[in-house]
Parts: sequence; C-alpha cells; structure tokens
Amino acid sequence: MAFNYITAAEAAEMIHDGMTLGLSGFTAPGTPKAISVELAKKAEREHEAGRPFKVNIFTGASTSDNVDGVLSRANAINMRAPYQNVPDLRKRINAHDCHYNDRHLSEMSQEMRYGFYGDIDFAIIEAADINEKGEIILGTGVGNIPTYAHMAKKIFIELNEELPSALHGMHDVIMLQDPPRRPAIPIYVANDRIGSPVLKVDPNKIVGIVRTKSLDGVKAFTAPDEVSKQIGANVVRFLVGEYTAGRLPKEFLPLQSGVGNVANAVLYDLGESTELPNFVMYTEVIQDAVLELMRKGKCTFASTCSMTFSDETERKLFPDLDFFRDKILMRPAELSNNPEVIRRLGVIAMNTALEADIFGAVNSTHVLGTRMMNGIGGSGDFTRNAYLSIFSCPSVSKGGLISNIVPLVSHVDHSEHSVDIIVTDQGIADLRGKDPVQRAYEIINNCAHPMYRPLLLDYLKIGKGGQTPHVLNAAFAFHNAFNATGDMRNADFSLYV
Ligand code: COA
Repeated sequence: MAFNYITAAEAAEMIHDGMTLGLSGFTAPGTPKAISVELAKKAEREHEAGRPFKVNIFTGASTSDNVDGVLSRANAINMRAPYQNVPDLRKRINAHDCHYNDRHLSEMSQEMRYGFYGDIDFAIIEAADINEKGEIILGTGVGNIPTYAHMAKKIFIELNEELPSALHGMHDVIMLQDPPRRPAIPIYVANDRIGSPVLKVDPNKIVGIVRTKSLDGVKAFTAPDEVSKQIGANVVRFLVGEYTAGRLPKEFLPLQSGVGNVANAVLYDLGESTELPNFVMYTEVIQDAVLELMRKGKCTFASTCSMTFSDETERKLFPDLDFFRDKILMRPAELSNNPEVIRRLGVIAMNTALEADIFGAVNSTHVLGTRMMNGIGGSGDFTRNAYLSIFSCPSVSKGGLISNIVPLVSHVDHSEHSVDIIVTDQGIADLRGKDPVQRAYEIINNCAHPMYRPLLLDYLKIGKGGQTPHVLNAAFAFHNAFNATGDMRNADFSLYV
C-alpha cells in the first residue's frame, strides 16, 4: 500500500477542536515531535480568531516541550493523562486551564479500552520504520500506543530518520486481553518475551506519514550532588545488608528505579558494589547509568517502557545496537508496570518522595498538599506490588526551610501499608514489622534532619493516644508554619497542648 507523505502542518489541519489524540512514547523517547508543534500554532491562530481550540492528549507518561510545552503555552490542552513533568503544563494544571487526570501508568491502556475516556480520533506514532502491511518498528519508547493505535479512528506516523531500523527486535509489543478473560501473563523471568517486535496497525487507518529528523532531546545528567550521593550510598548499604542477611535470594531480584539524579546515583553505586551480584532490571525507564552498567556486565538485562537516554548517549548507542539487542526490551506500560508481573518477579522498587510522614505515608505529587508537581507515574504500580518498596528523598529542601519528614503528609500517594523503607541523606528507616509509634521513632531518628528531630519528637509527645497518635489540629503545623513564615522550623506545638 502506498502511503501519503504529508507535512506536520497538513496533519495539524486535520485535527479539530475537541478531538482526542493518543500519542506513542514514554517520557520524551518515542514521543512524536512535529505535529504537536504545528497543532500549537493552529490553536494560537484559532484563539486569535476568537474560536475555541483544545484537544485531549493521552500519552504513555511525560512527553517533552514539543508536546506538553508548546501545547500548554498555546492553552490547547483540555484533558491530559496519565503523567506530565513540563513546567508550562504544570502551571496550566494548577490554574485549572487543563484537566489533568493523574493515573497509575499501568492502568491507562486498559481504562482507555474499558471506555472510561471515550474515543480516540487520532493516534500519532513515532516510528523508526514502517512497511506497507502497517508493521511499525517503534522508536525508543512505547507507552500505551498498542491500545491507542488499536482504538484510533485514524493514524499519523512520524517517521524519524534519526531512529535506526536496527531498533528492530528491541520491542515486545502486545495489547493485553480485557477481563473477565485475561490469561496469566507468561513472564517468569524479566527477559521472557511475549509479544511482537513490531506494532501492527491497520494500514488503511494511516492518513499520512510525516518525515522528521530529531533525537529525543533528553539532557545529560549533571554529576550527582553530595545529598544525592549520600542517599545513593544509603540505598546500596541497605541492599547489601539485606543481601548478606539472606533476606534476598542469592541470584538477587530485579530492580525498578525512578528517574533523576538520586536514581542515577543509586545505580552508579550499585555498579560499584562488589558485595552485590550482577542484576537485571524490571522497570519503566532506564537512563544513562544503565548503559554503562551493561557495558561493564553488572546489569545484564533491562525490561523497560523506554530508553530515556540523553542525546549524547543515544548517539553512542545507535551504532552499537547489536550489543544491546538481547539486553534491553521495550514494552507497553501495561506490561512494563504490570502488577501481576512485578509481584511474581519480586521486583525491588526504588522511588522518590517529595515528603514522607513519621508514620510512613508518602507524598510524591503535591507540593504543600495543593500544587501538582508531576504525577504518581509508575511509582504506585511498583510500590504496591514490590518485594521491597523503598522511597528516598533529601531530609530537607530549600536549604532547610522545608523538612521532607513531616508529622502528616499533606497529600497521600503511597500509604504506610505499602512503604517498607525510607532513605534520606541522614540514613535508613526500616519500617517492616513495626507499629506506627515504632515507625515514627525509626523515621525521626534515622531520616529526619537533626534540626527537625526535636520538633518531630514534640509532635509525638503531644499525642493523646490511639494506635496512630496524630493530633488532628496540629498535624499540618509544619506546612502551616511554612505558609505563614516561609520556614517549617517555626512550627510550634506548644500552641496545641
Ligand atoms: N515541599 C515543597 N517542595 C519540595 C519538597 C517538599 N516536601 N520536596 C522537594 N521540593 C521541591 C524542591 O525544592 C525542588 O524545587 P525546585 O525545582 O524549585 O528546586 C522540587 O520540589 C523538586 O525536588 P527534587 O528533590 O529535585 O525532586 P526530584 O527531581 O528528585 O523529583 C519527585 C522528585 C517526587 C517530584 C519525582 O520523583 C516524581 O515526580 N515522582 C513521582 C513519579 C514517580 O515516582 N515515578 C516513578 C518511576 S519514574
């Protein structure tokens, strides 16, 4: 079948106000980069002409400035799900200019198929290659595109010349069957392949192919700061302790790791550790540090939803794909983050918190309880189902004005029932097998910054009993003090006695 090659602007002209778009990719990798930019220009023209123009955007996870940035600045997003991390979109979300539905990433595909979000007008797919049968070699991220492509009335392809067709064989594409007849997922070790190396779409739905040429635009990490290094060292110290105590199997367990400097520091330290064996990853993103660990043989395999590598690393990776083809498998989010598989494989989950409370609940999403930061992402998928769930964060933020250990989190993403270990630059709190008050002492003494420990102990002292001795009108004294004075150290529990 002969495809119609069009420009990004021509594609954007076919997209109308109120339409729903499903995009390939997960983080910037795999996310289409051109049509959205033209769509933003169209939205601006429409707004100038006094006409409404907003679309609904469903993705795998976060995207890039080329999608969430340009479209937010044009105020062209009506509904957005399931995750984002772009500052301009964050502003729109917090101003209610955009309806943001922050979802567990593993659930987005199935909820879309269940009909919770209506129809999809266009799927936009970034491809390394496509043939006339509609078989697509995806790019460096998958996300929810098998479902979006299946449901979409029409499809645009962005054929990215920067992506080598040698990516063939690095994807495991499948769409899960829906209840009540979903069979067990036959992944028994991280590298069991269950899907197809290509995404197959109905070629008759493809209304145009747009040629593009651009890497994913991910920036290289800066060297970890002292706090990140300390957190990384503490996480690895904890894992070594578990391993030597025999609480982890001899062959070790698959690791999941979030993104960011702390995650990078943890992976770096794991690579250096002589006490831990080689390991595999069952995770949603892999970043630059993982490639280095693979070259060293320390990480032998990674199941992921995307290769979130910097452009610099992508340039080095693409000529060397033969070495990595049997070491990396990119899967749809409903598989990379699948609770059944995570529980079966015994994944060790390592995620980042904004704040944790003294009883073990974690807030990953809302700054001071109200302002959306990014979203829950895959942290819930992994945390709730992991063999061990570890959260880390610096003990303080903003130079000490904020304690990231608080009496009560101002928003709950992960309750104390799911959190096993909290790690800060100060140390490790092991919450397993402890009651709420025992957990509180463990967290205050090991994880809170020393300048906040007396205040947190004061909070425990004013408790009037109960299994979890909160004092409801004082539980947000840290947050109230910050809002009133700009410094949580001004919390005064004597006011509540
Ligand atoms: N209260 C208020 N502000 C806080 C805060 C708190 N308790 N903790 C951190 N901040 C501020 C920091 O000061 C920083 O502000 P700045 O950008 O103005 O400097 C900002 O929040 C980010 O903090 P940082 O420590 O650099 O965060 P991070 O980049 O390590 O990201 C999360 C932390 C929680 C936002 C991030 O990991 C996330 O979005 N997690 C949810 C998704 C997820 O876990 N996915 C899992 C797998 S990828």
